[in-house]
Amino acid sequence: MALILGLETSCDETAAAIVSDGRRILANVVASQVELHRQYGGVFPEMASRQHVLDIVPVIRETLSRAGMDWSALDAIAVTSGPGLVGSLLVGVNVAKGIAWAKGLPLIGVNHLEAHLYANWLDCAAGNGSLAAAPVPPLICLIVSGGHTALVLMTDYGQYAILGQTLDDAAGEAFDKVARLLGLGYPGGPAIQAAAEQGDPEAFDLPRAILHEGYDFSFSGLKTAVLRLMQQYKGPASAEQRPEQAPEAPALPVADIAASFQAAVVDVLVVKTKRAAEQFRVREVLLAGGVASNRLLRQRVRTEIDLPVRFPPPVYCTDNAAMVAAAGHFKYISGDYDGWELDVQPRLPLPGQVG
Ligand code: KG4
Ligand code: ZN
Repeated sequence: MALILGLETSCDETAAAIVSDGRRILANVVASQVELHRQYGGVFPEMASRQHVLDIVPVIRETLSRAGMDWSALDAIAVTSGPGLVGSLLVGVNVAKGIAWAKGLPLIGVNHLEAHLYANWLDCAAGNGSLAAAPVPPLICLIVSGGHTALVLMTDYGQYAILGQTLDDAAGEAFDKVARLLGLGYPGGPAIQAAAEQGDPEAFDLPRAILHEGYDFSFSGLKTAVLRLMQQYKGPASAEQRPEQAPEAPALPVADIAASFQAAVVDVLVVKTKRAAEQFRVREVLLAGGVASNRLLRQRVRTEIDLPVRFPPPVYCTDNAAMVAAAGHFKYISGDYDGWELDVQPRLPLPGQVG
């Protein structure tokens, strides 16, 4: 049995977890900075790194204590080294190096996107005795987060071909921007999902960019279409965002816009994922990243894709360190360790990229 301590500080969550054999979660602690960044409507990078410095040691101590372990039980330490915010990544990587040096543990740098994908290997019903079967490549994985949107063909462990990516905004970024326009607050994904539940997804016909061509995505036109639509209505977004608003304009149909927007994003994600799964004859489809916790997306991939579909529970879709420990485990068993020269790589692409 290999016990890996995972650390994650690439954006605005300070997280640590202990996972055995890449699958069983023994402890998982996440200190979220959402409240801190809410007043800015998004992540404020300088404040994020300062908060990581304050939180990282207490979060690691809490993780060891919840797992009922001390350092001597650990086999390796895995840490997100990129992509992400440089100042945030630096905190995790330097703490990981310090621990690895002091405790004589192997140090393993993990790619954040690969970690999101490996959240699908975690046994989220920990403690029930038996493990569900792990995903078996070839797989199609849709990685949809606040910073990334990628449709990936995983042919083997560590071997990925990127079939398509976003040409502009990431899916989660589109949710966050539209939520801000609608005055729904931050983070936008859960707020849009909640508002959409009271709305009609067919109320407005919003664009589905490059729906039938290739595997790339584009969400910035959708955001502009929402902005144009809003100009016919009044409140709650600022007048500056809707300069042409007529004084006698009717009230903004927030729920209908949220539902129509969510339907447009999910439509594109589902259509392309389904097409890729059929073209590459994979065994399974995986969803990963914060947007993978979206209820409509989860429900539509399950009903419309004729293959086994997996996605982690919402807490393991958004940033966490259990997924980092899981991805680190597969590098650990192949002896793929890093040296003291391990550095942060804010723009790190997926490893083993063939496409
Ligand atoms: O994976 P993640 O925690 O961080 C990044 O690596 O970016 O993803 C955060 C993103 C945010 O944009 C958030 O609005 C979105 O995931 N998100 C959702 C939902 N929950 C979180 N988007 C749509 N529906 C949700 N339920
Ligand atoms: Zn992430």
